[in-house]
Amino acid sequence: MDLLEEIERRRTFGIISHPDAGKTTLTEKLLLFGGAIQEAGAVKSNKIKKGATSDFMEIERQRGISVATSVLAFMYKDKKINILDTPGHKDFAEDTFRTLTAVDSVIVVIDVAKGVEEQTEKLVEVCRMRNIPMIVFINKLDREGKDAFDLLDEVEQKLGLKVIPLSFPIGMGYDFKGIYNIWEKKLNLFSGDTKQTVSAGIEFTDLDDPELDKMIGDAAAETLREEIELVREVYPDFDKDAYLNGELQPVFFGSALNNFGVKELLDCFIEIAPTPQPKMSDTRLVDSKENKFTGFVFKIHANMDPKHRDRLAFVKIVSGVFKRNTNYLHVKLGKKMKFSSPNAFFAEKKEIVDESFPGDIVGLHDTGNFKIGDTLTEGEVLEFKGVPSFSPEHFRYVNNADPMKAKQLAKGLDQLMDEGVAQLFTLDLNGRKVIGTVGALQFEVIQYRLEHEYGAKCSYENLNVHKACWVEPEDDQSDEFKDFKRVKQRYLAKDKKEQLVFLADSAFTVQMTQQKYPTVKLHFVSEYK
Ligand code: G4P
Repeated sequence: MDLLEEIERRRTFGIISHPDAGKTTLTEKLLLFGGAIQEAGAVKSNKIKKGATSDFMEIERQRGISVATSVLAFMYKDKKINILDTPGHKDFAEDTFRTLTAVDSVIVVIDVAKGVEEQTEKLVEVCRMRNIPMIVFINKLDREGKDAFDLLDEVEQKLGLKVIPLSFPIGMGYDFKGIYNIWEKKLNLFSGDTKQTVSAGIEFTDLDDPELDKMIGDAAAETLREEIELVREVYPDFDKDAYLNGELQPVFFGSALNNFGVKELLDCFIEIAPTPQPKMSDTRLVDSKENKFTGFVFKIHANMDPKHRDRLAFVKIVSGVFKRNTNYLHVKLGKKMKFSSPNAFFAEKKEIVDESFPGDIVGLHDTGNFKIGDTLTEGEVLEFKGVPSFSPEHFRYVNNADPMKAKQLAKGLDQLMDEGVAQLFTLDLNGRKVIGTVGALQFEVIQYRLEHEYGAKCSYENLNVHKACWVEPEDDQSDEFKDFKRVKQRYLAKDKKEQLVFLADSAFTVQMTQQKYPTVKLHFVSEYK
């Protein structure tokens, strides 16, 4: 198989949802179809159980699982499918944002009873900004939930999407009879006691066929006819290009737990979902079909065994073929490196591979050379864009609590930040270190991991910061910028990449600062150019 064929058969995507909507269950059912696992329950949920915020065993357990489930690959109808795991817990949202830089499309799971929830809104917004193609799966149809049309309206309004249902439910909850697959013009009937079995749909090109009444009853048949008619009137026709451009989102209904509607989703997905996409770098657009290898690090995972300090850097292959034992350029370090045991992922196992192709993820053992966002190439000097840091939500000073272990603390903090656990800012004025996180949970994770993996102790001190704003002066020699730096001196810091950051204490301050210094732009994201 040549490079083009390998690219053509790959689909790399992420599943996003609010916790509990059914992401893990859906993932597992997809793996079952691919024959990658044999039984339900094999994919462990990596969500942190509610109320477990102080339970460090739980965090460690979760870390262990999240390495195993970071990438779940399987074959289905000769397609190589890579699912990139995204943590649902809001405190790990940053991880999810970064993973979204490595997917070519996403499936959004929504609970039919709860509708659009907070976390879904945030994640979909990121996908929308990047025009990532999305398919929506409305889950738990075996339970009572919202009316299908109301829910479609809610999805459009709250998520800012333009939807097109490609399947439609017949009844719901107790009365759930099945689904009409508009995409394939097939009827799938739900039978409560044939859970987990995969039944082929019955071809139904003409819904006026009286056979339909016999199968689902007169009333349900009539309702279905009316609803499908309405779907055709209200929603646009499916247009694959519009979907691929992120302008139109197909919707499927089903019940992941009962394995209902999942095969229909998967069959449509492999047909319409994008193959590995080109990616923008600082110098040019890199096409997946180019022969020379390029890739970037979107995730770093520390070894679970504290005695082995090596880490696994997850690289998404953008173009060409990645080969074992071959020299590649680590662009940021300007250093050639080769990898003798790159890991590929298959279901919940990982194994050493000789070659990987665009869309694939390889796990590289790393002793501290990689940071999130780093690019590898065959020699070309380019860096991929699009692994930005967002402003954290919580900020604290970090202090050394054991003077004998200053080195360990510095090293531990450095490595945890490379992994993307949190962001570190160093105040210009006095060199004090400030940690910024998305959720409060990370402060405990950092303290625990510093102690257990690096033998260092830290304490925290509160700091009143509303947002970290990355500073972009129009002219860094202007009097206005000099004045800004003088007046705001106490609140200026550098991030890990030595970029200037203004730690604003309130939304009001941000607003006033922008008014007073119009040529000094403030951004809530590190990669603003
Ligand atoms: P998440 O990864 O998005 O957080 O969700 P997960 O798959 O863990 O599902 C959350 C809960 O919803 C689980 O129940 C799961 O069994 C249930 N669920 C998933 N899909 C369906 C569905 O189609 N119908 C119904 N009725 N329930 C569904 P749990 O009791 O929280 O966990 P568990 O003890 O079953 O693992």
